[in-house]
Amino acid sequence: PRKVIILTDPGQDQAAAIMLMLGLPDRFEVMGLVATAGNIDLSYTLENSLKLLELTGRPEIPVFAGSSTPIKRDLVIADHVHGPTGMDGPTLPVPTIKPSTKQGVDFIIETLRSEPPQTVTICSLSPLTNLALALLTAPDIAARIQEVVAMAGAYFEVGNITPTAEFNVYVDPEAAQGIFGSGVKLTLLPLDVTHEMLSTRERLNAMKKLGTNCAIALAEMLTFSESFDLKKYGWNGAPLHGPCVPLFLLEPEMFQGRLINVEVETTSQLTLGMTVADWWGITTRPKNVFWVRHGDDERLFEILNQALACLP
Ligand code: BDR
Repeated sequence: PRKVIILTDPGQDQAAAIMLMLGLPDRFEVMGLVATAGNIDLSYTLENSLKLLELTGRPEIPVFAGSSTPIKRDLVIADHVHGPTGMDGPTLPVPTIKPSTKQGVDFIIETLRSEPPQTVTICSLSPLTNLALALLTAPDIAARIQEVVAMAGAYFEVGNITPTAEFNVYVDPEAAQGIFGSGVKLTLLPLDVTHEMLSTRERLNAMKKLGTNCAIALAEMLTFSESFDLKKYGWNGAPLHGPCVPLFLLEPEMFQGRLINVEVETTSQLTLGMTVADWWGITTRPKNVFWVRHGDDERLFEILNQALACLP
């Protein structure tokens, strides 16, 4: 299995991505979760991470607290989408497991330094704050990362938190730009592709019918987080962002994209956090990102359900 560190701010769609990985233990070895301030404050994303590990029967996986703020900005949250706990929907028990006393940034650095080079993948489902801080503190780890696969950015599908910015980049644009410029092998799953992955009523019903605790809880979570997007977009379902990250790692052939230059706007008030994607190769700037533009939504839900069927 592929060794992964998950950076996350659960979050209903993060829960889906985490369950997908935990349900396929022969494909993913989850080394730890780094809770990130993003969809909601760190205290909640930490607690939600612990709740998910108890729900999935994997309490031994360590959870680390990341930074409680973006690198140089005040935190912007998305409780209008995810609810006041950040992961509203089902009522899950208060977790009995505790986070590690080690800080998330230290965990990232120590793991990358102790594992053989190029054997650990970073899956980012959240703002990129903690990976950027790790790279600032320990630039040597850049060469040791196998690859970074992140749900972040938007270009053809413009923005979701401002007219031009996607939430995960907008929350910490300096972190995103730091990683885009770090030379690591980087794949982005932007809104351009996640907007194709719609959790329709039929798909959520099929999920619920699996009948396991995890499947029912996830269907309830997604039903909650959908309600905002259904009104906003008027589509037949809400985009399911997070699981695109593990699906890309499992079946990259299900996606179409290009290696291009992408830079983040970090100064403009109007377009802060915009990911400027040079899709047509207009500039000579270095090609630093594999930018995914389309994917297979049927396959995403098929694999997600396969994974859910293997969980309690
Ligand atoms: C991203 O923003 C968050 O609110 C979602 O959970 C997802 O990570 C989509 O732009």
